[in-house]
Amino acid sequence: MTTYSEEFKLVARPGEISFSKGLDGVVAAESTKSYVDGLGGRLVYHGHPIEELAEESTFEEVFFLLLYDRLPTAAELARFTGQLQQHREIPEEIYAIVRDHAARRGVHPMTVLRTAISALAVFDEHAEEDTPETHQAQAVQITSKMATVAAAIGRVRSGQAIVHPRSDLSHAANYFYMMMGRVPDAFEARLTDVLLILHADHESNASTFAALVVKSTLADTYSAVVAGIAALKGPLHGGANEQVMKMLESIGSPERVAAWLDEAMAQKKKIMGFGHRVYKTMDPRATILRGYAREVTRRAGTERWLVMAEQIEKTMVEKFAQKGIWPNVDFFSGVVMASLGIDPSMFTPLFAVGRSAGWVAHAWEQRQDNRLFRPRFVYVGPESEPYIPLAERK
Ligand code: CMC
Repeated sequence: MTTYSEEFKLVARPGEISFSKGLDGVVAAESTKSYVDGLGGRLVYHGHPIEELAEESTFEEVFFLLLYDRLPTAAELARFTGQLQQHREIPEEIYAIVRDHAARRGVHPMTVLRTAISALAVFDEHAEEDTPETHQAQAVQITSKMATVAAAIGRVRSGQAIVHPRSDLSHAANYFYMMMGRVPDAFEARLTDVLLILHADHESNASTFAALVVKSTLADTYSAVVAGIAALKGPLHGGANEQVMKMLESIGSPERVAAWLDEAMAQKKKIMGFGHRVYKTMDPRATILRGYAREVTRRAGTERWLVMAEQIEKTMVEKFAQKGIWPNVDFFSGVVMASLGIDPSMFTPLFAVGRSAGWVAHAWEQRQDNRLFRPRFVYVGPESEPYIPLAERK
């Protein structure tokens, strides 16, 4: 326990007081939602290994599990699925934001997603109500509509007509349908579902933590989710999947992998899709996606992406495994999503569509036992500086 006098003495010269840069190893809260075993390479959602959920479950069931801390009964799942289906459509004004901005030069889809989800709050007259009922309703509504907004952004960017949601398909199949303009076959629907399940939650990752900081001020759930989207966008977090695909595209062919990697390593470049703050071994989500990558690249005729990815993986593991740098979820997800026909710029929005479940579940958990997040900085600036009048400053 820090005493008040120690706590308020955080004034130092640079490097004098040690602290955990990037909050590395800092435990910020208790949670019942998910657990990452970084040395064992395990991910568990409320007691269920990710491999089991990827094999047996659906996004709807996983979302219920994250929100309510238990698997639903058949009747509960049917009701929950119905709620998600019922809230898919978005106001015309939100489609207008997407139509007006998604195809602008230099605008990233995550910027439009962040803007559109923020604007959604304006159309929810209960947005400011802080009750268990409104919180849970918003959790479902935001997560349901996130898929519609993300898919519409992709359609507008590629110059295609927006596809409105259907209410008779699963969350994953409907998302695929809105992205591609056709109903997926059984394999495509399952793979989309698996992608959403794998991205649904990941303990105290940067975007979930950002959402919690906002929720801890007792701001509304839309604000918390918008913070999550903002943090997910960066290439060190959810934006890495797009960067992996850009890397594969710039390498171009399997024959060029070795030379490209040699040069990247000589320049001490970070290789996107590798490394993790918590995993010091293979990310279990990457293992699952590598398995799916075989089938989806065979079906799409994109095997060369996987050949290149596996060559990079082999060299990186040989060189960096002992340093704890292994493939993370974003390494194979790019190959999988590209082979499903998704444009690389839309990879991170897909991540957001899945992670929305985690953001709203953690935000609700935070709200139930809230305390404001308010860490300290060590002040390493000058103790006292003279105030020179503006006219006399050089
Ligand atoms: N390629 C080469 N070296 C790396 C990599 C990489 N991808 N990642 C970490 N390192 C090295 C880094 O250069 C540093 O070396 P040194 O100690 O010699 O200076 C050491 O490993 C520690 O790296 P760090 O960046 O301080 O580690 P961190 O825990 O702060 O960062 C990370 C974790 C994910 C930001 C980082 O590994 C990284 O930038 N990876 C590439 C981006 C990426 O794939 N992000 C997706 C993360 S998983 C999905 C998600 O949660 O969003």
